[in-house]
Amino acid sequence: MTAAAVSADAPAKLNLFLHVTGRRPDGYHLLDSLVAFTETGDRIIAEPADSLRLSVTGPFAGALRGEADNLVLRAARLLGEEADRRPDVALTLEKNLPVAAGIGGGSADAAATLRALIRLWGLEMPADRLAELGLRLGADVPACLLGRPSRLKGMGEQLDPLLALPALPVLLVNPGVPLSTPDVFRARTGDFGAAAPVILPEDPAALLDVLRAQRNDLTEAARTLVPQIGRVLDRLQALPGCLLARLSGSGPTCFALMRDVESAKAGADILRAAEPGWWVCATRLRPA
Ligand code: C5P
Repeated sequence: MTAAAVSADAPAKLNLFLHVTGRRPDGYHLLDSLVAFTETGDRIIAEPADSLRLSVTGPFAGALRGEADNLVLRAARLLGEEADRRPDVALTLEKNLPVAAGIGGGSADAAATLRALIRLWGLEMPADRLAELGLRLGADVPACLLGRPSRLKGMGEQLDPLLALPALPVLLVNPGVPLSTPDVFRARTGDFGAAAPVILPEDPAALLDVLRAQRNDLTEAARTLVPQIGRVLDRLQALPGCLLARLSGSGPTCFALMRDVESAKAGADILRAAEPGWWVCATRLRPA
């Protein structure tokens, strides 16, 4: 990393609950979700160069090899157009998160790219303009730009930041099978039943009870496409100290909120020993 380089974190995004409340005429679904971020994630480094290029490092770099284009490059080009300048930057993506995993990876990377380039180029951009640009890259990008626990509605553009979230230990578990988000939305069956409005309590301690009473409406569809999700959820639920286990986004990554750091560490050890093919990560929720 040279002196002129800037870096930006791209934390994993979790949907602590996710309700699908409708569908827009353009096919996008309307959601009501609580998004949160973890201490673990990808990282973007941006430095001046004579042309736009991207190198990918990290444990999941291989999953992106051979891709002619991706959200990081699209984000750089889009911001270049917006700022009326050539996006001549060398970008490095440290890919620590599994791809097509339901934890925001691509969206988080796009948001981090926008944030890094705004700093590198010294741009001033109002938050609402930036969110609009982000939405053109993906429905989850505005939430990732905000990077704070938020209630998300609409297709992802309506965001209401939460005042506080407990910094609970969390386990992320991915069974090692990529899953396409459009496929999961297509496989979803049933109507959009008028879900009872979810009122989030001010007291973070009471939040857990409210979360437990919710669900992820994409779980059945995702489980039909990747049956291993059922086993991941069963195993998480059986861990000592598990407070809540659920699918994130369209999956297949599931998460468990854990009572304390010790139970998270012990749970990770149990899962790694029992299921060597799974990606298991012990981390924490980022408080507001
Ligand atoms: O916006 P993004 O590219 O992340 O979305 C991927 C796909 O997931 C969309 O093309 C759409 O099929 C589906 N999707 C949806 N409703 C949302 C978000 C995503 O139907 N709110």
